[in-house]
Amino acid sequence: MTFAFEAEGLVKRFGKTTALAGIDLGGRQGSVLGVLGPNGAGKTTAVRILATLLRPDEGRAAVGGLDVVRQAAKVRRMIGLTGQYASVDEDLTGMENLVLIGQLLDLRRSEARARATELLDDFGLAEAANRTAKTYSGGMRRRLDLAASLVGRPDVLYLDEPTTGLDPVKRDDVWMIIRSLVADGVTVLLTTQYLEEADALADDISVIDHGKVIANGSPAELKRVVGGQTVLARPADPARLGDAAAVLASVAGRPADSPTRGVVAVPVDGDATFTEIVRRLADAGIVVTELSLRLPSLDEVFFTLTGRHTIEEAA
Ligand SMILES: Nc1ncnc2c1ncn2[C@@H]1O[C@H](COP(=O)(O)OP(=O)(O)O)[C@@H](O)[C@H]1O
Ligand SMILES: [Mg+2]
Repeated sequence: MTFAFEAEGLVKRFGKTTALAGIDLGGRQGSVLGVLGPNGAGKTTAVRILATLLRPDEGRAAVGGLDVVRQAAKVRRMIGLTGQYASVDEDLTGMENLVLIGQLLDLRRSEARARATELLDDFGLAEAANRTAKTYSGGMRRRLDLAASLVGRPDVLYLDEPTTGLDPVKRDDVWMIIRSLVADGVTVLLTTQYLEEADALADDISVIDHGKVIANGSPAELKRVVGGQTVLARPADPARLGDAAAVLASVAGRPADSPTRGVVAVPVDGDATFTEIVRRLADAGIVVTELSLRLPSLDEVFFTLTGRHTIEEAA
């Protein structure tokens, strides 16, 4: 198998904190590796090592077969990075930001302008090209950040929580951009706190916790381990909560619980169960104001894998 980037046994300590405790990651050429983990799991540290910005204490990492420590300059020419926090200059326009990056990458000014124009077009920022970045909305900023990481046409792109804090519509825009980059052959490392996002974009997922990989596999494999999907129902009449719970439990064949007030939920194995629940609720005359089928949250994934909640991690 050809890995576009690889990390083996990475260890990184910051004083008494062990951010990475021997982590292995591999991104197959032209695919998306999702690195899923709660705050503090070590995602950014791993990305920074793979991006040559930080040296590992132990272990090794390579991009395109080049060592990130010994061949850092060559590695930098192959990669793009969009950090968790915006990296563009607020006081420059979108165009100026991208041209500046192009010039830092040794493009001639005319080439840098051409590349900037092309990217601003691709990312729906052509009209805003001559406005300073500080006037951009959150979604526009995120798109400009992404464009900035693509000026040098990287083979490998690191996206560190690219959609955290974005509303669903803007998140979908970013997802579309990522998919088209991958279709063009770019290999992506995507860190995220959302199983839904990893499921939507990643070919392989590594779940990390305390600087260690605790589960590995395709989205389908991971979902099998963590128990597939959950049906949630909110009866219009709160007095029918118990009846709704009984319907969910009887169709799913396991007890329903109430994760939030007024809502009942049950894990299910397949989509067919959802249809059956819809029918049985209607038969029982239970009107619902909310009915959804969703993937487990990262917290539920964690609870299944570790017996702990992510909230306790943070505390
Ligand atoms: N520069 C640093 N100095 C001290 N501790 C750090 C530094 N960077 C990260 N850490 C610590 O290392 C752990 C992993 O952090 P990080 O890689 O940022 O996790 P994530 O990106 O998954 O939230 C955390 O406990 C964090 O506080
Ligand atoms: Mg981070």
